[in-house]
Amino acid sequence: MPTSEPRIESLLAQMTLEEKVGQLNQMNARAGVDPDLLRAGHVGSLFNASGPLTGQGFSDSGGAELANQLQRLALEARLKIPLLFGRDVIHGFRTVFPIPLGQAAAFDPGLAQEAAVVAAREATAGGIKWTFAPMLDIARDPRWGRIAEGNGEDPLLGARLAEAIVRGLQGQRMSDPDKLVACAKHFAGYGTAEGGRDYESGELSDPTLRDVYLAPFESAVRAGVGTLMAAFVDLNGMPATANRYLLSDILRGEWGFDGFVVSDWESVGELVHHGLAADAAHAARLALHAGVDMDMVAGTYLDTLAGSVRAGLVPLAEVDDAVRRILRIKHRAGLFENPFTDPARAARDLLAPQARELARRFARESMVLLKNEADLLPLRDVRRVLVAGPFLHARGELFGTWTPDGRADDVVPLDQALRQAAPGGVALWFADYADQALHMTPAVDAVVLLMGEHPVRSGENCNVSDLGLPPGQAELLLAVAALGKPVVLVVFAGRPLVLTREVAQAQAVLYAWHPGLEGGAALGEVLFGLAAPGGRLPVTFPRATGQVPIYYNHKSSGRPIGSDPRFLTRYNDLIPAPFFPFGYGLAYTTFAYDNLRLSGDVLRGRLEISAEVTNSGPRAGREVVQLYVRDVVGSLTRPVRELKDFQALELGPGETRRVTFVLEEEQLAFTRADGTRGVEPGTFHVWVAPHSQGGLRGEFVMP
Ligand code: GLC
Repeated sequence: MPTSEPRIESLLAQMTLEEKVGQLNQMNARAGVDPDLLRAGHVGSLFNASGPLTGQGFSDSGGAELANQLQRLALEARLKIPLLFGRDVIHGFRTVFPIPLGQAAAFDPGLAQEAAVVAAREATAGGIKWTFAPMLDIARDPRWGRIAEGNGEDPLLGARLAEAIVRGLQGQRMSDPDKLVACAKHFAGYGTAEGGRDYESGELSDPTLRDVYLAPFESAVRAGVGTLMAAFVDLNGMPATANRYLLSDILRGEWGFDGFVVSDWESVGELVHHGLAADAAHAARLALHAGVDMDMVAGTYLDTLAGSVRAGLVPLAEVDDAVRRILRIKHRAGLFENPFTDPARAARDLLAPQARELARRFARESMVLLKNEADLLPLRDVRRVLVAGPFLHARGELFGTWTPDGRADDVVPLDQALRQAAPGGVALWFADYADQALHMTPAVDAVVLLMGEHPVRSGENCNVSDLGLPPGQAELLLAVAALGKPVVLVVFAGRPLVLTREVAQAQAVLYAWHPGLEGGAALGEVLFGLAAPGGRLPVTFPRATGQVPIYYNHKSSGRPIGSDPRFLTRYNDLIPAPFFPFGYGLAYTTFAYDNLRLSGDVLRGRLEISAEVTNSGPRAGREVVQLYVRDVVGSLTRPVRELKDFQALELGPGETRRVTFVLEEEQLAFTRADGTRGVEPGTFHVWVAPHSQGGLRGEFVMP
């Protein structure tokens, strides 16, 4: 289907079939690049073309020189079509921000957008123009390592962050030198991988696919995302890489997406392993026909498409459409006008002081206070504090997953950062070993244990069958706690861990996720009260691994809690409730909710819902006020709660503010059994709440 872009059409008209197929081919520069392929115009994109992943370590230019060298080779080709350089810049380039799951805990899309702006500025200084981010997969199973990379279990939070991150990465014009082309991934339903085992198949009903898993992606497309990446998952028997329903009918037909889709790694070739394709050529035909425009590293398009076209097995028009979409994004990215990067930018744009400060702020806002008995935190009235645990000297371990361009040397070691944050008169003692910690505990006023999971347990193909702390850590906690001194447990992780026993042993528990470059300084500020933890849980925390999957926006059972106790939905050996619910988090003060008001008891177009929130405690604090609804009766069963909005506010001690939400009728729409989307009449419950299990409840009717 010819487009209105004359330059693309004129280029297309000049291209040979081999040059067209070349544009659909992405190679991983880490494996080395044949210059002749570049000069022949047989490569449309390279990724990992610089930085430590390519084995040449860090360069002062961040990789710009190497990218420029490769670009010059590509521009020797007949039609001089520039390369698009890609990279996984998932939560920062050189300035590493908290992992995306931690960022989601801040419930602050504005902050996520600011961090994306920094990531784009730094990555483009490194010669990169396309990032394989944001990762938007809804995750309901914390055994899955990639829960760390996404925004948690909720579609609204995911959608708000998707829009913010795409806008931060791409700006108003992705052709600006400090802006990237973004890539919403992994489309779609990747988080349904059975058992939380990465790359496994998943099953989803169409209503759940659309109303939960696609919501963040639709938001990214509405925000103008330039590309998407197809997921590894075999969804409902049709791998996403060959899923025309997803990649063409929904993405292009319903949403009007006009950018391009890249496969994930070798997923085109993997259609053979899925048992969908008989061979590589068949796999390439299926993927192209479904809507995958660019083949990441599998080489199946490069090796087979020209032959398939000449054999009449692939319509040339399908190749042309894919080329058009890729050239369109290269144009929008400004590559034809500015294919090179100024290597001098790196010295100015990488690791700027204000970027560090933003990373520190984001780390603080992402940390979630889960327990604070007797207001142990922030630590005060203490003179000697013992700090111990496997994260004691953490540097790169604070980064989390997908941080190839982060440098551990940039990180102040955690013990040093805590020492710098400790107020005068507070002596920090450090114990490297458990027996040292036990020996020193009797002599101190409090103990801070720095525990959790190393990033190697987090991210792609880093799944766990047991959500408990790694071996040895619970034992250390129990032994220290048995000595009777107050214990602060700080947990670094890329997922919700099962901490049922450990939380009982500690007086205070702070969840720091993998907090990034400035995690140490941020932790010090939070522990000693220079700042407060601002986060709320973007995922449900289970009581036991066996309780998974568990998430707040579940459907009601026919025998819900409260029914006949002999027959209700539960385990015989476990309390039927999460350990900590979605949206939960404490502050260094307390908040009270009062005086719920609805602008009417019938919603006609829109309804205002408000409540008074009071800081009823001694210190200023940040509260994330959440709006939930429940559609009590529907033509399909409806979730027991759905987040429809949230507002973060800072309140001084004793301060009261009325928080008002406007609920639009369209926000109550859902996908029905016949595939239509709409709002149905009936009764709705509504809550203004501090988390997904509490709050002030009202009721209204849709006529
Ligand atoms: C990986 C990941 C994907 C990443 C890509 C390139 O397999 O699934 O998220 O962007 O390969 O590194």
